[in-house]
This record gives sequence, C-alpha cells and structure tokens, in this order.
Amino acid sequence: MILYRTTIINPISASKCQFFQDGAILIKNKKIVYCGNYKKFPNTKIFDYREKVIIPGFCDTHIHLPQFEVRGTFSGTKLLPWLKKYIWPEEAKFLNTNHAKKVSQKFYKDLIKNGTLNTLIWGTIHEKAVEIVFNTCPIRAIIGKVMMDQNSSKELLETTKKTIKITENLAKKYKQNFAVTPRFAPTCSFESMKQAAKIAKKYKTYIQTHINENKDEIKWVKKLFPKFKSYTEVYQKAALLTEKTILAHMIHFTQEELKIIKKTKTKITHCPTSNIALKSGRMPIEKLLQEKIPFAISTDVGAGPDTSMFDVMKAFIKIHKKHKKITPTESLYYATLAGAQILGWQKQTGNLIKGKSADLLILDTKAQKNDTANTILQKIMQKGKNYYDNIIYKTIFQGKEIYKK
Ligand code: GUN
Ligand code: FE
Repeated sequence: MILYRTTIINPISASKCQFFQDGAILIKNKKIVYCGNYKKFPNTKIFDYREKVIIPGFCDTHIHLPQFEVRGTFSGTKLLPWLKKYIWPEEAKFLNTNHAKKVSQKFYKDLIKNGTLNTLIWGTIHEKAVEIVFNTCPIRAIIGKVMMDQNSSKELLETTKKTIKITENLAKKYKQNFAVTPRFAPTCSFESMKQAAKIAKKYKTYIQTHINENKDEIKWVKKLFPKFKSYTEVYQKAALLTEKTILAHMIHFTQEELKIIKKTKTKITHCPTSNIALKSGRMPIEKLLQEKIPFAISTDVGAGPDTSMFDVMKAFIKIHKKHKKITPTESLYYATLAGAQILGWQKQTGNLIKGKSADLLILDTKAQKNDTANTILQKIMQKGKNYYDNIIYKTIFQGKEIYKK
C-alpha cells in the first residue's frame, strides 16, 4: 500500500469540492482506498508530498490526434476555410502509417505530461492509422474513425460503402472503446449517418460528431438537408442522438434543438479555447445549465491550440465571465468528473473517491497557510502557460507512475 501525504483538491460536483490541506490518499491494487484528512495507516509506504498538491487526472472529451502537429495554426481563418487549408491536408498524411505512429507517440507523451488520463479521441478516415492510435494508447480512451463520404477533399473522400465497412470492422473489434464518428453533417450523406447509427447500436459503441459550431456551417447544413427543421433534427432523424452520443460545440442553437438534446439524453462537449481561436462564438452555457443538459469541457486540439486542460479551464472562466461566474473549482469539475460522467465512467474515475482508480496528478506547487482550493487553482491559471506547462510533477494512472518531471 502507498500513502501520499499531501494537499488534496477533489471535485465532487459543479458546486462542491473537497479540500484537505493536510490530507492523505491511500492506494492499494491500483485503487483509492482512502482520501481525506491525514491519518496514519499500518504497513504503508509513505510519500511526503506536503509541498505538493494532488488533483484528479483530467478528462478531455474532444481532441483530434491527427491535428496535433498543426495545433494553433489559423492565420485568421474561421471553421470551413481552416478545415480545407490546414486540417484536411494534415489528416491526409495519416495514410502513411509511419507518420501516424510518430504523431501518436508524440501526442500521448504530451497528454500525459499535461495530465490527461481520460479521453475521447478523433482519428482519421484511415483504418490502419486508427489501429495505430489504439495500439499506442497508454491511457483510458475511446477512439473514433472519421467518416466522410461527401464534400471532402480528394484525399479524404470515401465511398459510402467503404466508410461503413471500415467503421463496422473497428466497432466490432473495439466495441465500448470505439466511437462511430461521422465528421459533421456537411461531409456525410444521410445514408452514411443512418448506417453509422445502426452500427453504434449493434456494437454498443459511442457516437461523436460536431454540431452548430459556426454560422456558415449551419447555413451549409440547411442547404444540404432542406427537409429538416434544424441541424439537430438532421442527426436526430438519422438516429445518431443517443445517451452515448457526444456532440462538440453546440454554440448557435434554438430552444427546439435543446429540447431534442434533452429528450434523447445526448451529451455536449464545450470547447472554449477552440471557440475563441476560430471566432466561432460563445456557447450559452447558462441555457444548458437551465435545462440540466450534461456537458464537459475539452481542448478540441488542433482548433484548440494546447492540450493542457488548465488552458481550457482558464478560457472557460474568461469566455463566460459577463454571463455566468465560474469558480476555479467549478472549472476543475468540468475538466475532470463532468467528462467522466458524460462518458459513463464516473464509477471508475473522474475524482478521488474511495473505490475509484488511482488516476491523479501530483502538482509541483505548495499550498500556503491561508490557501483554499480556489486560490491554489486561481494562482496556477493566473501564472499562465509557461507555468502550468511544467506544473505536473508526476502523473499517476491506475496507481502507476507514467510521467515524472
Ligand atoms: N467540424 C468538422 N470537422 C472539424 C474539426 O476537425 N474541428 C472542428 N473544430 N470542427 C470541425
Ligand atoms: Fe473538433
């Protein structure tokens, strides 16, 4: 048994966060058996981390692995021109398996250094590359093969038959670790989306896609699918909206659309850094909160320029400041437990409750006498990127050290 004597910040819900200034976490067989105020336990190896702070590992519910190398590259473009100019040519490189392997390894190394231990990842259209993304993965992940059978670039365009065939092969193999991934309505025929939904149901996989991110994108969807009242209705009629569906963005929507999201128990992932970078607009979180629609926050790398969830938490607080006050501990909840909850992993991970997997981050910072959970997190975010890029002293996944500064 291992015992960490340390300061602990442990989010319990959006409004509740435990704080133990002189706390202890006891780990046995990869799991947390105690988390609370410090006390002695017999037969334990004690690590004195009183000059450190422990928080749960981060959960990033929307990230594009093949965009890692071009993250933060925009030159003022918005969504649609950005995709065509920077993203699709970069994703096309994943036809080369050596490239896919190199980027995957770099990507996961960076994620672990930044403390992300739970993820919902986007691959590319390529079957072999998606297999590599699975095979090199050292953390808890759901991974998707992108589907595009219309309005794509020449290199990334698939036939409906092929996109369905590869999706089914991978769904059959990876089941609950797979996400059926139609890129977004503009690049997917209605037939491919309907088939995609059937595969997800048959193999009990997740579904992920983008929605209502940008006004030109929404106009395009209206033109392509004139029969439907809204973007949300396109996905609903294709049977893509389920309890295991995670939709990224959802910025510009009507109350009618929100009703469909609520009725189908669809989950939302909100990407503040990406929305700022691509000038997509502010997602009205107050409306989601009012309707009690579950959501988490995520990086959306490469539109999000950074894999650090501290970066996302900081942008999350800032972007909503005039509309809704979000505290640092609240933002930590959305970056950890809320993500685990929308993926249905809350019994296994997401915070430091007894019985859960020991997935945690030892931060290289010392709590001062009058510090609270909020002041500690606030100081980290305030000091900025150069500081929080190096804040993680050790990353512990399932009780095992997988990164050390
Ligand atoms: N919409 C369709 N594809 C993408 C993508 O790769 N990133 C973002 N942010 N939005 C998208
Ligand atoms: Fe995205």
